[in-house]
Amino acid sequence: MEAPASRDARRATKEDRMSETLLAVHNVTKRFGSFVALSDISLEIGAGERIGIIGPNGSGKTTLINCVSGRLRPESGRVVFGGEDVTRMQPHRRAQRGLARTFQIPQPFHGMTLVENLYVPLEYGARGTERPDRAALRESALRILDSLGLGGKADEGCGALSQIELRKLELARALAVNPRLLVSDEAMAGLSASEVDEVLDILFALAGRGITVIMIEHIMHAIMRFSERVLCIVSGKLIAAGPPDEIVRHPEVQRAYIGD
Ligand SMILES: Nc1ncnc2c1ncn2[C@@H]1O[C@H](COP(=O)(O)OP(=O)(O)OP(=O)(O)O)[C@@H](O)[C@H]1O
Ligand SMILES: [Mg+2]
Repeated sequence: MEAPASRDARRATKEDRMSETLLAVHNVTKRFGSFVALSDISLEIGAGERIGIIGPNGSGKTTLINCVSGRLRPESGRVVFGGEDVTRMQPHRRAQRGLARTFQIPQPFHGMTLVENLYVPLEYGARGTERPDRAALRESALRILDSLGLGGKADEGCGALSQIELRKLELARALAVNPRLLVSDEAMAGLSASEVDEVLDILFALAGRGITVIMIEHIMHAIMRFSERVLCIVSGKLIAAGPPDEIVRHPEVQRAYIGD
């Protein structure tokens, strides 16, 4: 059995890591024409945290992630990742720094095999090291695909993948950049209950490896199980943040879901 002292030491380590801010969003506003999709959003995510983001359809969750990952540029505000201001940085440069996200609608490179799908992100992820050669890339790609149960399909095209396999390939592509932060944007949507559990297990395992994970989901029991802290976005505003059991009881959150 584990000695209490070593348990305490490990807990202290996790707490120390969490006290380090990995991602900070400062007063971000994003407009599409006259429509305000994000309104003055500020938040901080500690290294090692498991975060859930909830909010009704169209509330701005994906837009927030697009601003964080660099796909969209906010009209005002700042995004700081690992202590560095990345607000104006291209998405691939953010990926190089360890910021990875999956897409709500899987976006594999069609016409490539699963292994080949990982080559570009693997090259981005090889930060600070020599450019890996083909054999090294293939080995890394196979390791990631194996870890997600996709090893058997490594040299097949993506055309015949099932929904959960496509979701796993999205996760694999995100993992290929060797992320410090992984944002999973509705990786569980449309999956069966057992498949949801499978994806949940994968996200827990990644968090266990020290990756900070933000899970955007509508599946509330998955959010409740996974998240140490839940953020709720409604109409482009962050209306609540806290432990999951507090957030589900939060009057404004309840109003947003149930209506007045
Ligand atoms: N590129 C765009 N151009 C114009 N409007 C957009 C664009 N992207 C998002 N929107 C609008 O911004 C709002 C927020 O969209 P977003 O995709 O961020 O919502 P979401 O919270 O991720 O919703 P869902 O839960 O359905 O995925 C929506 O009203 C959406 O129609
Ligand atoms: Mg979305």
